[in-house]
Amino acid sequence: MNKEIRNEINKLKEQHNTIILVHNYQIPEVQDIADFLGDSLDLAMKATKTDAENIVFCGVDFMAESAKILNPDKNVIIPDADAKCPMAGMVDPNRLKQLMKDNPDAEVVSYINTTAEVKALSDICCTSSNGTNVVKSTSSEKVIFVPDRNLGAYIQRFTPDKEMILWPGICPTHHEIRKDQLLKIKEKHPKAEILVHPECRPEIIDIADHVLSTNGMVGHAKKSDVKEFIIGTEKDICYRLKNENPDKVFYPIKTAICPDMKKITLKKVLNSLRTLEPKVKLDDDIMEKAKMPLQKMMNIGRGD
Ligand code: 13P
Ligand code: SF4
Repeated sequence: MNKEIRNEINKLKEQHNTIILVHNYQIPEVQDIADFLGDSLDLAMKATKTDAENIVFCGVDFMAESAKILNPDKNVIIPDADAKCPMAGMVDPNRLKQLMKDNPDAEVVSYINTTAEVKALSDICCTSSNGTNVVKSTSSEKVIFVPDRNLGAYIQRFTPDKEMILWPGICPTHHEIRKDQLLKIKEKHPKAEILVHPECRPEIIDIADHVLSTNGMVGHAKKSDVKEFIIGTEKDICYRLKNENPDKVFYPIKTAICPDMKKITLKKVLNSLRTLEPKVKLDDDIMEKAKMPLQKMMNIGRGD
């Protein structure tokens, strides 16, 4: 059944001049049909470099929206329009405007996990790969950082000369990862390195060997001499890690699941390729304003 669906996906993809971009947290079957598999920054960059007319984005809303903002003339299609990152919805633009008014000397750095409306209010965006370099690049001493307070607190460790005002947002999937879950696995596998995403709580960051974006984890696992890794992020990245490093062992946090990333299925991808729907639609004015902070982020490039 999956084979038939995959064959039809490949046929329609060519017919419609489409590429399929897939985030590292997608379910294994969807990872398998990717033209490009990557993290938020990598996929945003790939989206700007393709000649394809249509982009099917297998990820969550803010990722597909970023691809659209960077390519307003292309069709960007997200196979399930309900796949929405809850953290991206945690910033109320009016409250942010008030905070900006109260701190006129602050620059606004928004994590790419935000709505287009919030990006449009921002000076620059960042991802988990380049957050520290982005904050360092700001010219003001004060920074309003939205929405992830865990990522913000992590960046603050490397930017002591900046006063960072942290929005109280979190990623439910990463915030729920507990120190004792990681330590229990470490007790059983003492040689394993602990790799965690910067969206984790500070006490998790403290016990990690490396704090990395999802592509940072992929790159590190590949070049490291270590053979075992405990992976403190969404569990399905372990499918990619295992595929690309068959001689190494990856221990996932079994409870670390992003329900919205799991909404995209092979059948929904097929349906999107048949109908070229649902398309990402954004207000032209918002897109225009949101492009500059994203572009500035891309100019900074990767930090890991
Ligand atoms: P990455 O950019 O590291 O893939 O992170 C995206 C994300 O949503 C993490 O939860
Ligand atoms: Fe959003 Fe967290 Fe899911 Fe990433 S893992 S998409 S931050 S809810």
